[in-house]
Amino acid sequence: MSDEYLWFKGTPFPSAYIKSETIQKVHDKIVFKDEDVLAVTYPKSGSTWVAVILALINSKGDPKWIQTVPILEQSPLIESEPGYELINGKERPQVIRSHLPFHLSPKSLFSSKVKVIYVIRNPRDVLVSGFYFWNAIKGAKTAKSLEQYFEWFIQGYVPWGSWFEHVRGWMSMRERENFFVLSYEELQKDIRGTTQKICQFLGKSLEPEALDLVAKYSSFQSMKENKMSNFSMLHHVILDPDFLLTRKGLC
Ligand code: A3P
Repeated sequence: MSDEYLWFKGTPFPSAYIKSETIQKVHDKIVFKDEDVLAVTYPKSGSTWVAVILALINSKGDPKWIQTVPILEQSPLIESEPGYELINGKERPQVIRSHLPFHLSPKSLFSSKVKVIYVIRNPRDVLVSGFYFWNAIKGAKTAKSLEQYFEWFIQGYVPWGSWFEHVRGWMSMRERENFFVLSYEELQKDIRGTTQKICQFLGKSLEPEALDLVAKYSSFQSMKENKMSNFSMLHHVILDPDFLLTRKGLC
């Protein structure tokens, strides 16, 4: 199994786009700014969705940015080399993302007031979503069946490791005032209300019309049609040509 993953301090990562040196640099060198917003999720928990919502909050619902800038540039994943470079570049994006388990996250997390949004999703749905996604993308081990993937998931032999450790680690931050927990299911149930809660955490407020626009442009259908966020730009690069990130989007 280890052949197809990059192993870093006991955690498996997709070898096609994550490198040990980058994870180490992220841990040691990233310096957060108080105005940064970091969206953290275990993979397949709604990272892309929340990133689009945050971008739309920043633009007061104007979809121009999310419809013209690829998602990995809008809100880079810090542990990928291009993501690391972007956040250290001249124009640091307002929203940054990570799937790193808590113990590998940047050391500077505790010395800044970076606002951390942790998105959690029912592990059953994370598991099913991961089964299809990791079978469609390069750099991860292909499971022969959902049953086999289930075994790997329970043992943490899947990209970014154990869901259980991820949640336990990050939830230890939950009493801190710069940490906000949000669930995929809450977003499904009430996108406007949940967006308002996110705004409150960020110290922002949106007019009702802007909230409507956030809900409209972050809807499953909108994101599925948006090339910038449906991962179709990765087709033939690292992703199977018939696979979209927006697979089912259900609880
Ligand atoms: P499914 O595979 O269950 O459909 P991530 O961005 O963390 O990789 O998560 C991907 C999951 O979020 C996929 O779940 C995808 O369909 C879902 N998703 C993405 N955008 C969504 C949206 N606007 N509404 C609901 N679910 C969304």
